[in-house]
Parts: sequence; C-alpha cells; structure tokens
Amino acid sequence: MAVKILGTGSFLPEKRVTNDDLAQVMDTSDEWISSRTGIRARHISVEETTSSMAVKAAKIALEDAKIAPEELDHIFVATLSADHATPSTACQVQKGIGAENAVCMDLNAACSGFIFGLQTALAYAKAGMGKKMMIIGVETLSKLMDWKDRSTCVLFGDGAGCAIVEADETRKVMIDAGSKGNMGDVLTCEERHLNNLLVKDDSPMQQVAMNGQAVFKFAVRIIPKSIHKVLEAAEVSEEEIKYFVLHQANRRIIEAAAKRLKEPIEKFPINLDQCANTSSATVPILLDEMNKKGMLEPGDKIVLCGFGGGLTWGSVYLEW
Ligand code: COA
Repeated sequence: MAVKILGTGSFLPEKRVTNDDLAQVMDTSDEWISSRTGIRARHISVEETTSSMAVKAAKIALEDAKIAPEELDHIFVATLSADHATPSTACQVQKGIGAENAVCMDLNAACSGFIFGLQTALAYAKAGMGKKMMIIGVETLSKLMDWKDRSTCVLFGDGAGCAIVEADETRKVMIDAGSKGNMGDVLTCEERHLNNLLVKDDSPMQQVAMNGQAVFKFAVRIIPKSIHKVLEAAEVSEEEIKYFVLHQANRRIIEAAAKRLKEPIEKFPINLDQCANTSSATVPILLDEMNKKGMLEPGDKIVLCGFGGGLTWGSVYLEW
C-alpha cells in the first residue's frame, strides 16, 4: 500500500518584509542576506495565527482535491509554533473546515515535520488505519525569533502548506528518516520553563538560537545520503527524478546537494527567495506552488526531503 496526492494548498500572510525593510530596523543588508542564503523577502504574520493559516491552506487543498471535509479520516499537523499546547492545531483545523470524522493530532519534527507527517500518513495507509488524510506544515516562526539576533531572525518566515493524500495500491512510495538528538543544541528554542508553586523562574524564554555553520554542514552531508537511500529502495535513478523538492533553508545548501547528487539545479525548485525558511511549511508550500503552476504530471517521479532541528531529517520518494 502506498499513497497518492489528491490535492495541495498553501497560505502566506499578507505582509511581505524584504531584506531592505529589515535593514531599516537592524544592522544588516540585502547584500549580506541574499549572497549567503538566497533569501530576499519573507511573509510575517500581523493578524494570522498558526491555526488560522493552517485552516486557510487546508480549505484550498480540499478544493484542489475535490473532496468534502467529512471524507478525511485523519489530520496531521506538523508545527513547532502552535497557538496552544491544547487544543492541538490539528483539532483547530478540524473545527475550521468541518472535518467531523477526522482523528487529529500534531507532531513536531521542526523542519522535517511535514515529511514525518507524510510518512505517518503512509504508515497509517499501510496499516489500514487511514484512507484519506490531510498533512499540514505550518509555522508562525516570527513569534519565536530573537529579533535582536541578526544572524538567525533574517532567515525565517511564516506560512502554511497542506497536502491531502489517499491510500493507493498502484503507486510506489519509499521513505527514509533519521534523528540525531545528540546534535540538538545546534538549533534550539525553549518552551515554557518550570514555574510552579515550588519553583519561581520568571527569566525570559530563550528564543530561536542556532549555530548556522554546524546546521549547514549537517544539511549538506545528510540530504544526498538520505535521497540516495530512498532512490536505491525505489530502484529509481537520480536521472529519472523530475524534481527534488528540498526544505527551503538556504540556496547554497540546495546547490551543494544538487552538486553531490550530480543533478542539474533546474531540477531543484526554489521559492526561499520570496518565502525564506518556514520550517515544516516549506516543502508543502513549494509543492503547492509547483502543482498550481502545472509543473507536475500524473506519474512524475519526485523526491521530497526535509532536515533541521532535533536534529532530524527525512525523505520521501513518490509518484505524482
Ligand atoms: N547581516 C550582516 N551581518 C551579519 C548578519 C546579518 N544578518 N548575521 C551575521 N552577520 C555577521 C556576523 O556578526 C559575523 O561577523 P564577524 O565575522 O564580524 O563576527 C559574520 O556576519 C558571519 O558571517 P559568515 O561567517 O560569513 O556567516 P556564514 O557564511 O556562516 O553564514 C548563515 C551564516 C547563517 C547564513 C549560514 O551559516 C547558514 O545559512 N547556515 C544554515 C542555517 C540554516 O539554514 N538553518 C536552518 C536549517 S533548518
């Protein structure tokens, strides 16, 4: 049993903030940011929340999939920036779209979140536990940034992407995933700290902090390794792949991966110049863009790959 994608959707907050806009409020420049990352702009929430963006992307995906919300049996939302610890974002999506028959849960695998969500849906399909499932990657990272740390805050943005899948026997899907908890401290963001009737700790929360060079080295090593693994398992060569849809963190990471895979950069779609890094949302936002532009035909072989905090990584080979 495998899955096929029935439809996609995405949503970006209206407010677009360019590198030049950032240079007005902090010591940075378009030249520094774009030459090191390829990023030129990002979307930042003013009124949107994690759940409101997820609901908007979900409604667009339902329309694209041409199914009713009641047909969904599961909703998996990948996020590290939920509005609430409970109810989960997935339950808020259920309420927002009227998917009354869905079982809903959130998962957090940082920038690999959407890939892990898709792999979860695949496992449910294989186990006979799910037929039509929705996977969302959504982040309001702007609320987790240290806006005084120019080395990280310029890299990220807000947004949501969604895919609806259906269990399907005719398609082939292969996965790879991994985690390296012992490298977790190179990319961190604190949750609420202990503060109760026995412990008083009103110190400020630690926002996103990153050792950029360590993450860069990890990404460049792990992406080709993980992609090779899924292609070997699928018995498909790199040349047969139409697109490698990689997590959008840094253009140089994508270029290095293309070089190591010995594949032309044209096979690696990029939208990080306009959206920056939206963590779990990058892959489904990009996939939706490609879908809406008509870049994908039935039967096309593609690979999705995510990597990031945890550290975590994962790849999925699938047929459109
Ligand atoms: N604007 C201007 N200068 C900046 C800056 C900014 N936004 N951020 C940092 N700098 C300065 C630093 O203070 C430092 O100055 P110093 O040398 O005087 O101390 C210098 O730039 C560091 O530059 P450099 O060493 O060239 O940085 P880099 O080439 O390692 O690039 C990253 C930094 C963050 C762009 C790069 O490491 C990266 O993209 N890593 C991957 C991060 C990522 O994508 N993470 C998410 C993965 S899910």
